[in-house]
Amino acid sequence: MAEIIEFDGKISVESCLDKIIHGDCLEIMRALPDKCVDVIITSPPYNLLNSTGNGLKKNTNCGKWKNAAIKNGYAEHEDNMPYDEYITWQRECVAEMCRLIKDDGAVFYNNKNRVQNGLLENRGEILRGFPLRQVIIWKRSGAINFNAGYFLPTTEQIYLLCNKAFKLAKGANKLTDVWEVTQEMHNPHPAPFPEELIDRIVFSTTGKIILDPFAGSGTTAISARKFDRNFILIEKSLRYCEMARLRLDGGDWRHGFNDSFGDSGKSVRKNLLVRSLFDE
Ligand SMILES: C[S@@+](CC[C@H](N)C(=O)[O-])C[C@H]1O[C@@H](n2cnc3c(N)ncnc32)[C@H](O)[C@@H]1O
Repeated sequence: MAEIIEFDGKISVESCLDKIIHGDCLEIMRALPDKCVDVIITSPPYNLLNSTGNGLKKNTNCGKWKNAAIKNGYAEHEDNMPYDEYITWQRECVAEMCRLIKDDGAVFYNNKNRVQNGLLENRGEILRGFPLRQVIIWKRSGAINFNAGYFLPTTEQIYLLCNKAFKLAKGANKLTDVWEVTQEMHNPHPAPFPEELIDRIVFSTTGKIILDPFAGSGTTAISARKFDRNFILIEKSLRYCEMARLRLDGGDWRHGFNDSFGDSGKSVRKNLLVRSLFDE
């Protein structure tokens, strides 16, 4: 049985192996010792709800997308920070991630560029000064954020930050740096990883302990288990902690969590499409 533990200020790696820790990831990462995990795989909130230019902000009608869960942010995160605050927050998180990995460790950090007020907001701003080795392009199967001013974006980035001694698992370099993976269509979380994407990352690494500080529905743990690794999940929303726990225990996690996302399956699929609309 997967267990959810409350963060009470003190933590050790041993006490949270294969567990879901409920709390703020920055606080929790700061309580962990240097060089204590092998790999970090994560996707933070993208700060989409202050997007300009498409009327899909919080509290707008959103026309036919009015049931979109992502329009309301996450259960306990508004996804609507002032830009500078978001960059500072993410830089603090990435600094902690880089501190936590071992000398041969790596961080796979997923984020996405977007156009704001007609100009590219490059997530490289978050990563300036950190040990970036490669940018993997995740090509999704489609997108609907059409704009007359630029080509339809269909990609996200996975930034590989790592220490000098990091090496890929044998043969993994053949995966190349462009990964075509369809977005997740059957997960009630508003912004989940597709399992295949994380399977590729876990397959490509050899480290035993994998941390996801923005765990959401727990996809990183599902992949970690498949490859016989240990996981540590951190998630701020108790609702998503429960979702991950139920998922890891083989429970009915999809239906159990659809109720608050409107008309179940249909709106879940719409939510996934709507994520890309926010980019404009
Ligand atoms: C993009 S989602 C991650 C989804 C995840 N990859 C999955 O497959 O389900 C980002 C998650 O970060 C969580 N979050 C936001 N702020 C947080 C914080 N300060 N500490 C921990 N988790 C946070 C949100 O609740 C949300 O579930």
